[in-house]
Amino acid sequence: MLKVNDLIVFYENAIAVNDLSLQVRSGQIVGIIGSNSAGKTTLMNTISGLILDMRIKEQRKGGERITVMGTVSFDGEDISEMPAYERAQKGIVLCRERHPIFPDSSVQENLKIAGYLRTRAQVKQGVEQAFELFPNLARWRRRKAGFLSGGEQQMLAIGMAMMVGPKLLLLDEPLLGLSPAMQNQLVDAIKDVSSQTGVTLVIAEQFARPLLPWLDFAYVIENGMLTLTGPGPELMHNPEIKSAYFGV
Ligand SMILES: Nc1ncnc2c1ncn2[C@@H]1O[C@H](COP(=O)(O)OP(=O)(O)O)[C@@H](O)[C@H]1O
Ligand SMILES: [Mg+2]
Repeated sequence: MLKVNDLIVFYENAIAVNDLSLQVRSGQIVGIIGSNSAGKTTLMNTISGLILDMRIKEQRKGGERITVMGTVSFDGEDISEMPAYERAQKGIVLCRERHPIFPDSSVQENLKIAGYLRTRAQVKQGVEQAFELFPNLARWRRRKAGFLSGGEQQMLAIGMAMMVGPKLLLLDEPLLGLSPAMQNQLVDAIKDVSSQTGVTLVIAEQFARPLLPWLDFAYVIENGMLTLTGPGPELMHNPEIKSAYFGV
């Protein structure tokens, strides 16, 4: 479904993604595992097309030069030069790191806002689906989103991304800032999203431990380069992973 081939991304003269290739099959949960500044967000932005918008913005204000080489293809089509909004129409939706939500609007309003491009019936169905997937959101549907816990806000952000009707949902560090218990709860919610909707998931994460057992495939990156790959449960037992991510 998704293929990234020989991707290289430079910011000015610093390399953020270095000759990276990966593949995602329909229905899979695939992880991009790496510590801070490994290149995860750059990769997610390149898959979603956001990097092209960033490149244009930087060019306009005469800022740093962003260079992208290599190809991204989706359902067999080369989308490397396709703008982010067109990719979103094709079903590639990014839930960004530190997810923007509207804190003064209610949970339900946030979901509706996220579905602004969809028909009224789709919005209704989407809100129902979000409440089924995330019972906590249903409980707080009339509450201002700013009053939700960190984990619930993250669930809302994912619910909002689902409102767009993705085929491929990209989650950038969904576990960031959450307690270990909340991380487990969110991983459970993500598993439900996968099994109940069939959406394909690519998740960038530094907190590998709660996520790895559920990954059909994981790509571990360091300094923009792939260092390890394999099914999540297999990598769980890898000594390098244990020392780098589990602190043992
Ligand atoms: N807009 C930017 N301009 C310059 N360098 C950047 C920019 N964004 C990220 N970088 C650099 O690229 C590398 C990868 O960053 P990033 O993709 O954000 O990693 P991660 O999401 O894994 O923390 C880092 O060295 C970071 O400092
Ligand atoms: Mg990041």
